[in-house]
Amino acid sequence: MPTTFCLINQKGGCGKSSTCFHLAGAFAAQGANVLLLDMDPQGSLSQGFLGSSIVESLESDQTLAMLFDEARFFAKRDQILRPTQFEGITLCPANQLLSPFNAPEPEKTGMLQYAIREFVAEQSGFDIVLIDCPPNLYRCSWTAMVAADQVLIPVPPEDFGTQGLRAVHQCVEQVRSLNPNLQDLKHLVTRSDCRLLVHRMYEQKLRDMYGKTVMETVIPEASAFKVALTRRRPVQFHDSKSKAAKLTNCLAREILDRIGKDESTRKVA
Ligand SMILES: Nc1ncnc2c1ncn2[C@@H]1O[C@H](COP(=O)(O)OP(=O)(O)OP(=O)(O)O)[C@@H](O)[C@H]1O
Ligand SMILES: [Mg+2]
Repeated sequence: MPTTFCLINQKGGCGKSSTCFHLAGAFAAQGANVLLLDMDPQGSLSQGFLGSSIVESLESDQTLAMLFDEARFFAKRDQILRPTQFEGITLCPANQLLSPFNAPEPEKTGMLQYAIREFVAEQSGFDIVLIDCPPNLYRCSWTAMVAADQVLIPVPPEDFGTQGLRAVHQCVEQVRSLNPNLQDLKHLVTRSDCRLLVHRMYEQKLRDMYGKTVMETVIPEASAFKVALTRRRPVQFHDSKSKAAKLTNCLAREILDRIGKDESTRKVA
């Protein structure tokens, strides 16, 4: 069975999609088979791999929107899965067609709350599933959490970045009534500039407040991430010697260590 992570935070621009994109590259470069689910109607993760014009032109039944559309309940779901140009990375894209399904009050949407969980359970051959969520806690994020084993919260170490974390934590607690196996959430400091005193202070504050749930690896603000994204390549495949690639690699290893996947099960070189 794969381990499923959802990346959530209602704060926009904190690095959810970027982390999914580059982390998938690090896992894949280490030999894992990664399934990426884009659960954000903005389709940022999908655009990272496919470009905006292709993503905008995708039909509903080529995207994760299909799973929420009762009219397409019996349609063939395999067509959502898209191999990427990178060995070990498969993408299920999303675009604006997911937007009407991202309703508030997700706990009132009946069995559709399990749509992603069921879809993931139908897949085989993947080691890791990463689900990218939109910057709110509506149905897309909720169904991702219902499907997840682990919640990863990217947090920029600043005031606006750390605000709203309590709402995320409360939402995770509520999801546990449907998904009691959901593990303790983990926080990932992202977009950090260690030259800034305020960033160093907020990182320490997060570690004081949330202890070991804060990942030791910190993802810095680095142009290599942006450049690699522009080239439509996870940084590991764009410039594996860059500091950004090395740190993403460290993050992948820390995650595998924390979830207890040993060398024999994780196929890591
Ligand atoms: N560590 C980083 N270093 C440099 N740029 C970054 C980093 N992380 C993210 N970015 C850039 O910041 C912007 C926002 O990042 P991203 O889209 O990943 O955030 P998000 O949390 O997914 O946003 P949204 O909430 O809108 O989905 C993107 O242009 C991305 O390339
Ligand atoms: Mg995003």
